Amino acid sequence: MSAPELESATGGPRCLDAAAHAALRAEFPLLETCLYLNNNSTGAVPRAAQGVLTAYWDTLRTWRDDVWQGWHEGLDRYADGLAAFIGAPPGSVVTDANLSTLLGRVASCFDYRPPRDRVVITDLEFPAVPFVWNAFRRYGARLDVVGTGGPDFDQDALVRRVDERTLLVCVPHASFSSGATVDLPRLVARAHDVGALVVVDAFQSVGVMPLDVTALGVDVVLGGAHKWLCGVGTGFLYVRPDLMPTLEPAATGWQAGDRALTFQPSTGWAAGAQRFAGGTPFPLTSLVSQVGLDLLAGVGIAAIREHSLACTSRILARAGAAGITVVSPTEPHRRGGVVCLDVADGEAVKRRLAARDVICSWRGYLRVGPHVYNTLDEVDAFMDALEEELGR
Ligand SMILES: Cc1ncc(COP(=O)(O)O)c(C=O)c1O
Repeated sequence: MSAPELESATGGPRCLDAAAHAALRAEFPLLETCLYLNNNSTGAVPRAAQGVLTAYWDTLRTWRDDVWQGWHEGLDRYADGLAAFIGAPPGSVVTDANLSTLLGRVASCFDYRPPRDRVVITDLEFPAVPFVWNAFRRYGARLDVVGTGGPDFDQDALVRRVDERTLLVCVPHASFSSGATVDLPRLVARAHDVGALVVVDAFQSVGVMPLDVTALGVDVVLGGAHKWLCGVGTGFLYVRPDLMPTLEPAATGWQAGDRALTFQPSTGWAAGAQRFAGGTPFPLTSLVSQVGLDLLAGVGIAAIREHSLACTSRILARAGAAGITVVSPTEPHRRGGVVCLDVADGEAVKRRLAARDVICSWRGYLRVGPHVYNTLDEVDAFMDALEEELGR
């Protein structure tokens, strides 16, 4: 298929303006080293991170205890930046090492007492999610896994499974293995109708897809920095502000207390999402991740999504033309930032592409995840290389 035909096959979504895009690309040194379409695994980190790392070393080199004041401000700035990025008010997001830690903390807020003791998940979760919930069976949680029987969600089955016995529904916004998305407005409406709470694993969406937690009325959202948010080593948790006072994590840490920074014993919980904090935080990952968040926020999530859709549409068109099986939903509103392709011997294909400095990932399917800094030319170069490897 020629380029103009591909353009018309891709439909509406538009790439970022060329000059702005070139300036954005220049911020990501990784892009100079390879053809990088692996953002669903690990995103590129902007070059300004180097200055943050150097400053951190200077801090350690000339250590004074009052550095903590600035570090706490840095942690709060990143958490509030994330909150703004997902349409949440300041003070409603907290960070910690990873999503698993924060999900366990959320899970430890509940008593799993019949008749409302069920946690509904799907069989398309990232392994962190079932692993944590399985551990809470010990405390009475009854896990109810909605089978999809394939790479896409069965939205009807999911909604049907939520009833008066459901305490929590915990689903991904976008699947890590297929890029399919859950119809969150429909699920939130059903869950709230029957008195259940909705927990969303948004690791594969925040940074590349719009998610307005306030408009959606979702209860809990978890994610992390090192993929679409162009950061490193930090997870985040949003809790609906009016829900917060009702939740008391048993898996906690002293920095969740109301007097933590006075070093006196706390008698209550800290204000806002800080009540979901743990022990002494590691500020470096938030400080580094801030530069990626600032860049993405500067572009804006609507423009990021359009650019992403233009790139993933191009992958779909090229795959269709080459007869490569597409696993991800083809309708734009039903897919996240990644397109998954079912190719024979996919893991070996991924390795052969990597040997050519063409980087994607394999999780049962070949996952191709362009981000806002990638170009349609890169997508074409990727598909050319893939077709060569597949002998098309
Ligand atoms: C959907 C999803 N959830 C969670 C994670 C990771 O969880 P954790 O931060 O606990 O490693 C990933 C990928 O690493 C993911 O793709």
